[in-house]
Amino acid sequence: MALTIGVDIGGTKVLGGVVDPDGTVVATCRRDTPAGDVAATRDVIIDVVKDLSAEHEVDAVGIGAAGWIDATRSTVLFAPNLAWRDEPLRDYVAKAVNLPVVVENDANVAAWAEFRYGAAADAEDSMVMFTVGTGIGGGIVLGGALVRGAHGIAAEIGHMLAVPDGHLCGCGRHGCIEQYASGNALVRFARAGAQAEPERAALLLGKADGRVDHITGPIVTAAAQAGDEVAIDAFTQIGYWLGQGLADLVQILDPQVLVVGGGVIDAGDLLMTPARQSYLDSLAQRGRLPVAELRAAKMGNVAGLVGAADLARR
Ligand code: BGC
Ligand code: NA
Ligand code: ZN
Repeated sequence: MALTIGVDIGGTKVLGGVVDPDGTVVATCRRDTPAGDVAATRDVIIDVVKDLSAEHEVDAVGIGAAGWIDATRSTVLFAPNLAWRDEPLRDYVAKAVNLPVVVENDANVAAWAEFRYGAAADAEDSMVMFTVGTGIGGGIVLGGALVRGAHGIAAEIGHMLAVPDGHLCGCGRHGCIEQYASGNALVRFARAGAQAEPERAALLLGKADGRVDHITGPIVTAAAQAGDEVAIDAFTQIGYWLGQGLADLVQILDPQVLVVGGGVIDAGDLLMTPARQSYLDSLAQRGRLPVAELRAAKMGNVAGLVGAADLARR
């Protein structure tokens, strides 16, 4: 059966995999992402594909990248949290590896994987997913197909407005929900809380050498799991904003299933409980109308590569 390669380009790692038509990952290959270096990142992607295709016969390559991708699925137009600007990624990689390549948005491929094989596999034909990592990504499936929009850039839900004149976002706008509900926002809330009330953040600061600026996402998660009040508050705050965003999407699209994924859901109910609360509280006619169930993603860190591989097959 036809195998394809999926590659997920994250801020810290490039994770590639050979995937079969059932969504099973047959082999993986992982490299560090060269920070801020576009040319080196391209070469790492090529290395990963060559490594995998040397061992397995594959038909095509799908790449998930964290940015606006053009309608032909070839160029990364802009990436708020990466150095890519009008990057012709598809042709560059295709030429080097001699295989057909498609480039997709990272959150679109993750959503596609959850729809095909994961938390929304039972959804008939619609779902919306928020991917909560460094940034906030979105994926929308309607009528059984990914919604790409007229220019390829639909479902950029991280850049919906949350707070008028709020924090400056990597996209250039002020107050995007990405600045209030992402992994970066979690760290910002936790640092501010630890600064303001160090006594309540004893556990959190203990894990960060006593230094507010050493607090990272994984530290906030570990401290919250250990009961640190400031860390738990930080999750409550991003959960609140996430729930607001989810409610907006439901009012617009009314999907069968809502999924929250991305690295930050390693925290489980610390995030999902406040997100669900905020989502349900802020729906119009709450409690009276049927609405999509909110679920945690299931595919873990292979979601991106599995979705990219499957889209490359189509
Ligand atoms: C970007 C999206 C991306 C998301 C998650 C956002 O800042 O605009 O394209 O999907 O981050 O990586
Ligand atoms: Na997207
Ligand atoms: Zn933005």
